[in-house]
Amino acid sequence: MEVRNRVEVMHGVNLDQLGRRDPDHYGSFTLTELELAISEAAGELGLATRFFQTNHEGAFVEHLHGLDGMADAIILNPGAWTHYSYAIRDALELTRLPAVEVHLSHVDEREAFRRESVIRDLCCATVTAKGRDGYREALTRLAEQLASAV
Ligand code: DQA
Repeated sequence: MEVRNRVEVMHGVNLDQLGRRDPDHYGSFTLTELELAISEAAGELGLATRFFQTNHEGAFVEHLHGLDGMADAIILNPGAWTHYSYAIRDALELTRLPAVEVHLSHVDEREAFRRESVIRDLCCATVTAKGRDGYREALTRLAEQLASAV
């Protein structure tokens, strides 16, 4: 039986600056530390992760284009692009993969512009305000989704 367990974890603009960003919203861990925690949690759930981060919107779009046959599901935190990038929305739609949107901070209780997500309706779940643990929750959702789709 074919194993569908490959999760692409995509971080968008400014997420490479974790550790320097406002700790009240984002914690004090670095992106490297976050990715380590995600890959450990994924291993416990029998999932395999691959990571990608860029500060360039076109590179994010092209990475989504390249996922055909390379991933079974996506976790994405596009950072500020979440709130306005229809280009990323269209590229995510093209993948036809189950996706979970994650935000470290409580986007619904910050500035009004952060309440808008142009990708939310394409995702099977959205996790916000849970910091690092939000990624574990996203992995759990995808593990369930992949198992039920077999
Ligand atoms: C973020 C929230 C966005 O509004 C912000 O622009 C980010 C990070 C989060 O993880 O909470 O860069 O996506």
